[in-house]
Amino acid sequence: MITVDKQNRVFSLHTQGTTYQMKADRHNVLLHTYYGPRADGDLSYLIRYADRACAPNPDEAGLDRTYSLDTLPQEYSSCGVGDFRLPSIEFELPSGSHSASLRYTGYELREGKYGLDGLPAFRGTAEDAQTLVLFLEDAAAQVCVELYYGVFERYDLITRAVRVVNQSSAPVHLLQCASMCLDFLRSDLDLITFNGCHMMERCPDRAPLRSGVQGVGSVRGTSSHQHNPFVVLCDRGANEDYGVCYGAVLLYSGNFQAVAERSQYDNSRLVMGVNPYQFRWTLEPGEVFNAPEAALVCAPCGLGQMSRQFHRAIREHLIRDPLQGQRRPVLINNWEATYFKFNADKLVEIAETAAPLGIELFVMDDGWFGMRDDDNQGLGDWQVNTDKLPGGLDALVPRLQALGMRFGIWIEPEMVNENSSLYREHPDWALKIPERAPARCRNQLVLDFSRPEVRQYIYGQIKSVLSGADVSYVKWDMNRSLTDVCSAVLPPERQGEVYHRYVLGVYEMLEWLRQDFPHILIEGCAGGGGRFDAGMLYYTPQIWCSDNTDAIDRLRIQYGTSFCYPVSTMGAHVSVVPNEGNGRITPMETRGVVAMAGTFGYEMDLSAASETDKKIIQRQTAFFKARYDLIQQGDYYRLSDPFQDGPYTAWEHVSANRREALVSLVTGGTHAAPSFLTLRLKGLEPDAVYRVNGGEECYSGSTLMAAGYPLPQLWGDYQSLQLYLKAEA
Ligand code: GLA
Repeated sequence: MITVDKQNRVFSLHTQGTTYQMKADRHNVLLHTYYGPRADGDLSYLIRYADRACAPNPDEAGLDRTYSLDTLPQEYSSCGVGDFRLPSIEFELPSGSHSASLRYTGYELREGKYGLDGLPAFRGTAEDAQTLVLFLEDAAAQVCVELYYGVFERYDLITRAVRVVNQSSAPVHLLQCASMCLDFLRSDLDLITFNGCHMMERCPDRAPLRSGVQGVGSVRGTSSHQHNPFVVLCDRGANEDYGVCYGAVLLYSGNFQAVAERSQYDNSRLVMGVNPYQFRWTLEPGEVFNAPEAALVCAPCGLGQMSRQFHRAIREHLIRDPLQGQRRPVLINNWEATYFKFNADKLVEIAETAAPLGIELFVMDDGWFGMRDDDNQGLGDWQVNTDKLPGGLDALVPRLQALGMRFGIWIEPEMVNENSSLYREHPDWALKIPERAPARCRNQLVLDFSRPEVRQYIYGQIKSVLSGADVSYVKWDMNRSLTDVCSAVLPPERQGEVYHRYVLGVYEMLEWLRQDFPHILIEGCAGGGGRFDAGMLYYTPQIWCSDNTDAIDRLRIQYGTSFCYPVSTMGAHVSVVPNEGNGRITPMETRGVVAMAGTFGYEMDLSAASETDKKIIQRQTAFFKARYDLIQQGDYYRLSDPFQDGPYTAWEHVSANRREALVSLVTGGTHAAPSFLTLRLKGLEPDAVYRVNGGEECYSGSTLMAAGYPLPQLWGDYQSLQLYLKAEA
């Protein structure tokens, strides 16, 4: 519920458990008064005024030296006019100066959730959400800045976006435009970021806020393997079940920054948005710039509650799943099975083994097109290689369908190899700095997706492949970072727009794909999890979590990913042992338990699998399908932290009505003389009696949560256990 106290110009955004409040003060500065567990009234009493040395006073304050932008909590911080903390927005004025100074001019309330042209955004009808727009103005720049707030009460979710309108008769240059700024009148907070590298993405890193600026970002043109556009600020003592936690996620897949600052009087600020690195956007008179959406969840009771709110909101209001309400298929992907060495018969051979085991979708990965016999050539030539696939997809797909399998295909539309017909015809379509030879990465270059004609051409090629066959699934890959960012068609003063235009171009083509092929399930991918973000999830309901398929490393990757993103988004497959990334040997059962905490599939040559493994796979697919809704739609509880090197990693899925739960547990390296362990569960109905795995064992929910379940001793390394709990009628 949004309430407006017109007299005092106080704007309160109430959700079920939280309150977010702003106030336009006597100088029309928009102050941030509060964000946290639900509170009432005008909370601006929390803001104190004092004459602080070296704190500038704006012109309107006259001789009042207690009024300084540098010490007051700002809703959307200015630049160069007296607040020395992190700016949210910055203009280059005709004088060449860099500044921004905003004053409140009005507000508007709307039913339902606002949308954003060409950008991903949470969706909500009048029943789900309300919108508040606050209008600010920079009189010198003659620019209107509109702050958008979407309030989803049931999810404790507040979305934010910013729209900048040039109201002057001259061009305005935007040098920074954050999606959100969040000030706190406190600094005793921990900052959690999610970091890593290719094969080890989104590992949490938690530290108390230090004085000064700290944060993460990406300048790679993608949201990146290295840092995720999701961060948490929380009470120092917060854990899974306790403490106030603020999660902030950016719906953006390119260069971003998320920076926090602890300032001199123990206040703090979080600013998140498009990274100002090499950013300079020109707005002609009347033109509009939309900053991408950011979304906040405040959870009064711990990190677990925060994650569950994000999971629900992402599942129900962000993702547009073509299979909404239906089960997504268990898939087999041939990448780790064959790499580039395959032909139609080999694919069919794998499918012939997979189909009777309950696997429903065959995904043909990289290598099916042009001269793509290795990763040095062929990208850009999206025509079926008929040496490998005689008769093309027309011949292959019916053979798979005859086995009862659906067909999926891999593409990497944003890239080109120099050794390709496309590049020979259009060398200027790749991003290149005219004065330099471009850097290669996986021996490929990046196509200039900021150019409509490039997108249209590539889309045309891919559309004709997809139209010519019965395709149910597309894996959209992106296997390098952007360098040499310069577009052959933009003038020098507009090159600062290329990074962002590139992302808008990717979004546009994804939207075309969704419109033309509404039944196709798209899985995002970027060298594994290099573009795993809430922006992509708007177009691709699942994303390949990591190229690392080792079950034990995956425990960490999926744990870190789960802080914001739901299980139904995490692409996860069972692969062979020894694992091809790290040589580890884990039991087939364990690999299945870990992969079914994601979208679930296999990525191995099943035609070479042992009879024992095949039996296990058959059991796994049946088990997963029978508990699909519980796993994919249920509430997710982290029961342990795999980074703590404890004896096991455990997690739990609980159905919405709490009548069913699935506990999964994987042990680490084994030791002799183990301790007896008890696992305390979460989220159950205290008075319900749960039967364990359909056997004789029964316990009440309160007993399982308070006293715990006695774990059996598991023999050997990396063992697993699943407990399916069902409440007795
Ligand atoms: C990336 C993906 C892999 C696979 C290869 C194909 O690395 O993450 O899953 O598709 O590309 O080249």
